Amino acid sequence: MRKKTRICTKALAQKLLVCAVAVTLAIAPLTFGQTGSRPDDRVVRERVDALLKQMTLEEKIGQLSQLFDFGEVKKIDEAVVGGHVGSLLFVTDPAEINRFQHLAVDKTRVHIPLIFGYDVIHGFRTIFPVPIAMAASWDPATVTTAQSIAAKEARAVGIGWAFAPMLDIARDPRWGRIVEGAGEDPYLGSAIAAAQVRGFQGDYIGSPDHILACMKHFAGYGAAEGGRDYDASYIPDSQMYNVYLPPFHAAVKAGVGSAMSAYMDLNDVPATGNHWLLHDVLRDQWNFTGFVVSDANSVKSLEKHHYAKDLSDAAVRAFKAGVNMEMAIDFNAYSRHLAAAVQSGQITVQEIEAADRPILETKIRLGLFEHPYVDEARAQRILASPEHRTASRIAAERSAVLLRNEGGLLPLKKSGYTNVAVIGPLADSQLDTLGSWAFQQDLQETVTVLGGLRDKLGPQVKLTYTPGVQIYRKFRSFFDDIFKLKPAVPWTAEKSKAEMSKAVNLATESDLTILVLGEAQNMSGEAASRESLDLPGREEQLLEAVAATRKPVVLVLLNGRPLNIKWAAAHIPAILEAWYPGTQGGNAVANLLFGDAVPGGKLPITWPRDVGQIPINYAHNTTQSPEEQGKRYWDEESTPLYPFGYGLSYSTFAFSDLKVSQTQIKPGESIDVSFDVENTGALQADEVAQLYVHQRYGSASRPVRELKGFERITLAPHAKKTLHMSLGTPELSYWSTTKKDWVEEPADFDIWVGGNSEATLHASFEIKQ
Ligand code: NOJ
Repeated sequence: MRKKTRICTKALAQKLLVCAVAVTLAIAPLTFGQTGSRPDDRVVRERVDALLKQMTLEEKIGQLSQLFDFGEVKKIDEAVVGGHVGSLLFVTDPAEINRFQHLAVDKTRVHIPLIFGYDVIHGFRTIFPVPIAMAASWDPATVTTAQSIAAKEARAVGIGWAFAPMLDIARDPRWGRIVEGAGEDPYLGSAIAAAQVRGFQGDYIGSPDHILACMKHFAGYGAAEGGRDYDASYIPDSQMYNVYLPPFHAAVKAGVGSAMSAYMDLNDVPATGNHWLLHDVLRDQWNFTGFVVSDANSVKSLEKHHYAKDLSDAAVRAFKAGVNMEMAIDFNAYSRHLAAAVQSGQITVQEIEAADRPILETKIRLGLFEHPYVDEARAQRILASPEHRTASRIAAERSAVLLRNEGGLLPLKKSGYTNVAVIGPLADSQLDTLGSWAFQQDLQETVTVLGGLRDKLGPQVKLTYTPGVQIYRKFRSFFDDIFKLKPAVPWTAEKSKAEMSKAVNLATESDLTILVLGEAQNMSGEAASRESLDLPGREEQLLEAVAATRKPVVLVLLNGRPLNIKWAAAHIPAILEAWYPGTQGGNAVANLLFGDAVPGGKLPITWPRDVGQIPINYAHNTTQSPEEQGKRYWDEESTPLYPFGYGLSYSTFAFSDLKVSQTQIKPGESIDVSFDVENTGALQADEVAQLYVHQRYGSASRPVRELKGFERITLAPHAKKTLHMSLGTPELSYWSTTKKDWVEEPADFDIWVGGNSEATLHASFEIKQ
């Protein structure tokens, strides 16, 4: 408070507005960016009007520019003081945030605070499981909790804006960024999208300890051709409306305050210059009232795409399409060219002001004018919170998917083993336990699988570790520079042989081997696409060699995409998909393997047998010879290795008594679907009940089945619960290619309920006009 009073006195003459509010709030001291209550819309609008009246055209354009802090402090300082920038990204040190903020508040004419953005994707200091893993929890509450903790930590250091959630539906696991989303399904994706928005933003934009969310990458980025990151997407309207857009629409309905336009060409029009996407869909159809930021340098990319003539044309096209703020590493198109575009009449001042409004409104709502500075000591306390680490462990336990458990090898008995071998290049790597988009963690406190097992088993069990093989990318990732990772020095042939033998010997001498295989963190994420899904390096040889010892083997996978584990799925008795489980990953895995937690996650994506099956997703259309669906190839089954929604438990469940409240309804009416789920095993465990729907005919062909309801429940041994799910217009309508609109059609419908997308318990009903 003392600091703020001094600032007010210093700049009193110019800053009456800022100081008046700060004085009001002095009565109820709040921390950085907190207003204490939901601001009144009218008051917010009036404050924006008042600000715009004071601003020059340059200052108005400045609010539309966002710069990266990559260490060029002097350049950024000048841009801030000159009023040429409204937002910075990648500043994470609270002291530095305060310093920049002082420049914006004290040294500029209109004293508009900066908003600091950052990729708070799955945690800040406390790293949660990667997003695809959290989607595998099928538990929106877990997701909301995780993102609200991430928001609290980020906000504590002064970050007011997360570039998350990533809502790109991804049906091609070659695409590296599949790890950042919720998988292949629009219904699950929408539920996870809304849960993330709630987690980041709280009840309203400006909720204490919350931050602004940014849905990205709008839209269609997940359909990159060949799974190659940044490549063009070609998506028919029906797929766009029925598959790719719903999670974004769900986020808008949940009140998301910002959106990021994607990098790539969408049907030959780059998303960042796509008026249909950013205006017609986002603003006109969905009434989105927040602001759009471009992805990094994607305004400049309009030129690279050979869409815009030059940087100035790129600025005008992005602006006219609906990009409010430009994120730029360099080549800032808006600050260089928008003023000239106004002078030449291509853009009006009113249009510039309209682009400013939601940005200024957001800064007001977030309380940045009242509390622009962060309390550095408080930040450290929040970042250290042990409750956050506990929440991360629980999220990792709830995200894991048990893929195989032959002969009930799992859960392991703590007293059953005296000599345990832990093998694999990822088993003791902190960074690889976290996954991509994790930068602010404390690596030392990250618990690897080896660390978790060591704690779980204690000194009485002999635990030995060796990596067995080495894995690395053929081409370096630009993120490796951020982590200052040295290029891998490939092992010599002799060393490779010796390390493999050492691993096999360890397995031979042990009475249990836990193999930890998968991908290093830089093999998944941005610029991390692959042409193969095979286990990288010589992991497959290691796996087969260890299995040949005929000792019990458990395979733990750390990865962000389905991998080719065909051989393992036939030969390794127990396989646990742990994804990149985060800060507490090792403890979560140890708890799961030894039965202190029971796996209950389910796949949010169809798991192919091999890369050649891609694209493969459960909600494909019914086609010629449907009975031959599994024999589309002559050399391999065309069914997945594991279906969407699949995951085992240490218990078993039975579904029964499926009922619909009516067998016939009119368009617009709803039916209630009810069924029983029973835990038929002897352990308390979770099941994810899933409801699938199929429309038998209509104005367009419909998928064989689509997820339209789910609920994760915990059942005591032998307990039974009746669940109810509702089907109405939101679930029963779709965008029809022939009607070029949303339709809810008279037709017969099938429904199935069960524990995965191959559920067989069936009922039907009809929609009749
Ligand atoms: C590029 C990525 O595509 C986007 O997801 C991210 O938010 C920005 N860079 C900022 O880091």
